Amino acid sequence: MERFAVTTARPYDILIGKGILKDAGKYIGEDIKPCRVCIITDSKVNQLYAETLTDSLKENGFEPHKIVFPEGEYSKSMTTYANILESLAEKAFSRSDIIVALGGGVVGDLSGFAAATYLRGIKYIQIPTTYLAAVDSSVGGKTAVNLLSGKNLAGAFWQPSMVICDYSTFESMDEAFLLDGVAEAIKNGMIMESSLIDWVLAKDYGKVIERCVSIKKSVVEADERDTGMRQLLNFGHTIGHGIEKLSSYRISHGRAVAMGMAAESKAAFKMGLTSYDAGEYLTEILTKCGFDLDLPYSAEELYRYAKNDKKIIGDSISMVIPEALGKCRLQKILLSDLEEFIKLGIEK
Ligand SMILES: NC(=O)c1ccc[n+]([C@@H]2O[C@H](COP(=O)([O-])OP(=O)(O)OC[C@H]3O[C@@H](n4cnc5c(N)ncnc54)[C@H](O)[C@@H]3O)[C@@H](O)[C@H]2O)c1
Repeated sequence: MERFAVTTARPYDILIGKGILKDAGKYIGEDIKPCRVCIITDSKVNQLYAETLTDSLKENGFEPHKIVFPEGEYSKSMTTYANILESLAEKAFSRSDIIVALGGGVVGDLSGFAAATYLRGIKYIQIPTTYLAAVDSSVGGKTAVNLLSGKNLAGAFWQPSMVICDYSTFESMDEAFLLDGVAEAIKNGMIMESSLIDWVLAKDYGKVIERCVSIKKSVVEADERDTGMRQLLNFGHTIGHGIEKLSSYRISHGRAVAMGMAAESKAAFKMGLTSYDAGEYLTEILTKCGFDLDLPYSAEELYRYAKNDKKIIGDSISMVIPEALGKCRLQKILLSDLEEFIKLGIEK
């Protein structure tokens, strides 16, 4: 098992290993005195992993309780959030008790927001069970729910007290959800560390999670010093967000970002913004991983969304331009050139 520390204002440890869920109670007990624990999970993960966690918590002197909601993004709502708070109150959870989020990004975001706000904040632990949650959403302290008006519109920054990642849980994941994590990991490889892509292709989950978490940590820390580096994490997102929205979210975030990365890279090369043709490389790698990169939308449709991107400042937008494998830079593109940029990216 690998253990490393995240040094945010409230530091915490991330534990990464295969088969470590059965020892979760022991690890939590190293940091937190025996108390009541509310496991929050979804209907699918509940059937797969809640019993192992419950047993481990009991063996280590904790008193486990459970809240289960239906699986899927639809549950990431104000209704589920309010039900969780009511349920915590009915169970008389206090500030010395804790929440454990057992599941993917939906469970993590909802549980984190509940932890941030119940009694003005109680401790919570993330146990990610999807590839995406492990490489991205369980780290960084962003919590949220969706509003009817859009995704992640209500939330808070609330750091977990510990992250326990048992990647043997990925063995039960559907291929489509696994790919969302693959896209995120390849993005990190492209912007910061090319060797990460080799680990992704080798399906070395332990190494990939360790490197992704460490990249996310360093990028977020650098952004605190106002270098603007955090925007590198937006690679593929200008076109990707448009694809997600145009598909009414039927195309998942990860698949949309995969298409976006390939298209934005092609465009940067064709526009002469870089001498490195990352588009060709990405198309090969992403196809090999199982992504379908055929873009079902026109440049005009994608431009309509891109021109409202929140990364636009004045008359330009910051785009992430690949300079070499594992190295990207930010470059401003005039809005008047953006539609042409998108057109070059998506034409065959
Ligand atoms: N907070 C952040 O920084 C951040 C970052 C990226 C994404 N997100 C959020 O994460 C969410 C997406 O996360 P996700 O892809 O994990 O989705 P998810 O939590 O909905 O999980 C996907 C599906 O996989 C199932 N599942 C979970 N673990 C499983 C396992 N081990 N075996 C079998 N099935 C399993 C779930 O029940 C669900 O049906 C989105 O809401 C997104 O906004 C948050």
